[in-house]
Amino acid sequence: MTSSNKEPQKIYLKDYTPPTYRVDDIYLDIKVFNDHATVSSVLNMSREHDGKLVLLGRELELLNISINDKVLTADDYALDDESLTIHNAPDTAKVAIDVKITPQTNTALEGLYQSGTGDELMFVTQCEPEGFRKITFFPDRPDVLTEYTTRVEADKRFPVLLANGNLIEKGDVGDDRHFAVWHDPTKKPSYLFACVVADLAVMSDHYTTIEGREVLLEIYAVPADIDKCHVAMTALKDAMAWDEEHYGRAYDLDRYMIVATGQFNMGAMENKGLNIFNTSCVLSSPKTTTDERSFHVKAVIAHEYFHNWTGNRITCRDWFQLCLKEGFTVFRDQSFSSSHRSPAVQRIDDVGFLKAHQFKEDAGVLAHPVRPDSFVEINNFYTVTVYEKGAEIVRMIATLLGKDKFRQGTDEYFARYDGQAVTIEDFLSAMSVGDGRVLDFLAWYTQAGTPVLTGGFDVAGDSVKLTFSQQTRHVAGFDEPKALPIPIDVAIFHGESGELLAQELLLLTKDSDMFGFDGLDLGGVRPVVSVLRNFSAPVKLEFDYTDEDLVKIVQFENEGFNQWQAVQTLVGRLLFGKSDNVALLTDTLKRIVPTLMHKDPMLTARLFDMPSESELAVAYDKDYNPQAVKATRTALKEQIAHALADHVQVWYDSLPIVPYEDTPDARGVRLLRNVLFNLALTAKLDMTERTERQYTNATCMSEQLGALGAMIEFGLPNADDYTAQFYEEYHDNDLVIDSWFSVQAGADSRDVAFIKALMERADYDWQTPNRVRTTLGGLASKPTQLWTKDGISLYLSAVARLDVINPVLASRSLSALARWYTLSGDDKEMVKAELIALQQKASSKNVLEFLNNMLGDKA
Ligand code: ARG
Ligand code: ZN
Repeated sequence: MTSSNKEPQKIYLKDYTPPTYRVDDIYLDIKVFNDHATVSSVLNMSREHDGKLVLLGRELELLNISINDKVLTADDYALDDESLTIHNAPDTAKVAIDVKITPQTNTALEGLYQSGTGDELMFVTQCEPEGFRKITFFPDRPDVLTEYTTRVEADKRFPVLLANGNLIEKGDVGDDRHFAVWHDPTKKPSYLFACVVADLAVMSDHYTTIEGREVLLEIYAVPADIDKCHVAMTALKDAMAWDEEHYGRAYDLDRYMIVATGQFNMGAMENKGLNIFNTSCVLSSPKTTTDERSFHVKAVIAHEYFHNWTGNRITCRDWFQLCLKEGFTVFRDQSFSSSHRSPAVQRIDDVGFLKAHQFKEDAGVLAHPVRPDSFVEINNFYTVTVYEKGAEIVRMIATLLGKDKFRQGTDEYFARYDGQAVTIEDFLSAMSVGDGRVLDFLAWYTQAGTPVLTGGFDVAGDSVKLTFSQQTRHVAGFDEPKALPIPIDVAIFHGESGELLAQELLLLTKDSDMFGFDGLDLGGVRPVVSVLRNFSAPVKLEFDYTDEDLVKIVQFENEGFNQWQAVQTLVGRLLFGKSDNVALLTDTLKRIVPTLMHKDPMLTARLFDMPSESELAVAYDKDYNPQAVKATRTALKEQIAHALADHVQVWYDSLPIVPYEDTPDARGVRLLRNVLFNLALTAKLDMTERTERQYTNATCMSEQLGALGAMIEFGLPNADDYTAQFYEEYHDNDLVIDSWFSVQAGADSRDVAFIKALMERADYDWQTPNRVRTTLGGLASKPTQLWTKDGISLYLSAVARLDVINPVLASRSLSALARWYTLSGDDKEMVKAELIALQQKASSKNVLEFLNNMLGDKA
């Protein structure tokens, strides 16, 4: 191990320089053989700026290189592990290069790699962010856009040969081999390149765009899974129509292909005209997929489709601008999802995710701005901050502008920058055409940390005076935080009748400010003030509500999100000892559930949410004691369950199992049934028979897995039998077996030794990220097990193993440990020693950057 490996090189946004050469077009010829592949490329390059001609390449065996048909010798260029520099390159250069690669041994799942084995063996690519350089030498950066023609050749045992764009030729080459040539007319950056060599079945459909273009839609999956592509296909057509209606954006090629692969580091990838998807984000059937997962499939299909405009046609100038495409696209997919179910529930889920994961990231040593200004390994910045907080910023802008001005801004953005690689400043400049205040949102992109918004109100006669102030912690290594523009949606209700007296979107732009509401008909009673409605800004709210105010918000609000938030705030007060009035909470639930459960069953289910143990950990910057947090949480959960015991079984029984339907209400009922079930078991009611009945009569995976999960979690008598039976039934379905692993690994009743045994099974495949995530995710969801000597050793031994085979997965797994230093005393020292031991043996820059940041000034 060299010392330079230990201190990987940092790249800074401020050092950005435009590319010296542009690439006018590229011809690629990719030939896949049994144990290797060859890639021949011809790049037509033209000088744009002074400087060297540098091509990036990694793990490539250079076979030949010529410029303008003159073969180069070793004296004509310099080659190292990362790049190829051509000396004295002419201003116009036809660069022809042959390289050899070995996708068969590429376990990192970046570049061209083999996925699956046997019948399911296929070759796929993942180029974002820097995988293209593992296929051939190229200026592999997002601001070099070019036109691709790709020839793919392989053995005929792989009938499917795909690349981006339109198929222009195919044929035989003898020796039982064949080829296909694809041409993509749109200029694109190399990270959007894709090709596939496989033996897959296809589901086809058509869509006619609003501009009259006939588009062939194809989803490719292994034959056994092809019938599980209907949900994705419908979602794709819905997404295409939605983008036309809401953003005026139509699809631009004659073909849109999606390929499902079992081994994939992330959810999916938006390659131009040829999306590649993790099977977990495309396959769905009622029998094998839970409602939650199936809804996620639709969201990811939409997300990748929306990238065609926000990402592909307008792309990022450099990787610091990743949020330009991801934040905006997440906002777009959230809005799409919100038209497929109760918008309040959509918002609750999105905010719940943000608080559980992004707030945690922002509160720890891995905190970074939505647009970072430096990085070692860009793969480490595909974070919840870039994605989810990035989406919240676009949402704030949309809220501030209102529907028409927001559309005016996005129209301007698409018109101005189509075909270009741009920055956040460009985005804000286009979005601000109707309202200059948008420009001030730049600070949200450049400043790390979650702002704390503190507020309260005074009443005088018929006036209400609201005061707010904001504060963001100073994140080490960054400038002093400054005040951000914070949109605060406020409603004021009459304190007794609940009549809505005022509603307004306030914009706090200073450290603190005051906002007056006059002439309200308060009738001499304390009004109910409901703030930050629909979570109008991604902040931690500390508003001086009384417990009674919160109960009235639940009663009076017409906005489902703030009803949920009020219940959550009550729960939080009980958890943190700021209130002990459990009855106030349970009485409220008893009052609203019976009617709400028939109106919006999913919202009803969400009202029973309790922050998870790891979410509660965010409240501690030191002396975090996982056991104590768990004890408090369990005690409250039990108190609530006991107080509701007489009702839950009745509520459960009023929701009988009915034939399967994929509607918001049916999904809501299934979720509510599982929630009530857990509540009843927490109250120690005898649910054994009901659980078994639900398992046996299940019409779909949500019901079956809901029952199995409860049996395992609460250690019901037949849990082991049903666990074995479940495995038997689904042993040949990898995604269902992933759930089987997850539900056990995440159960309180299963300890670290049990998880370790799961990881030693023959069907635990280290090459398949989905499988690896089941156990690591399960362990990470149980802080009382994770933060023990055995838990940490198991977790870090897995990371060490992944460091060698799949660095992207390895470092992503580490983020669950980012707040290790908040533990108290001995625990903290124990974890620190383990992290340092890993730091000494780790080799990938992905893992080293993470560990260096995690240990940094805390070490
Ligand atoms: N752009 C993809 C998305 O839709 C994410 C791909 C990132 N892949 C990776 N290996 N970092 O969000
Ligand atoms: Zn994306």
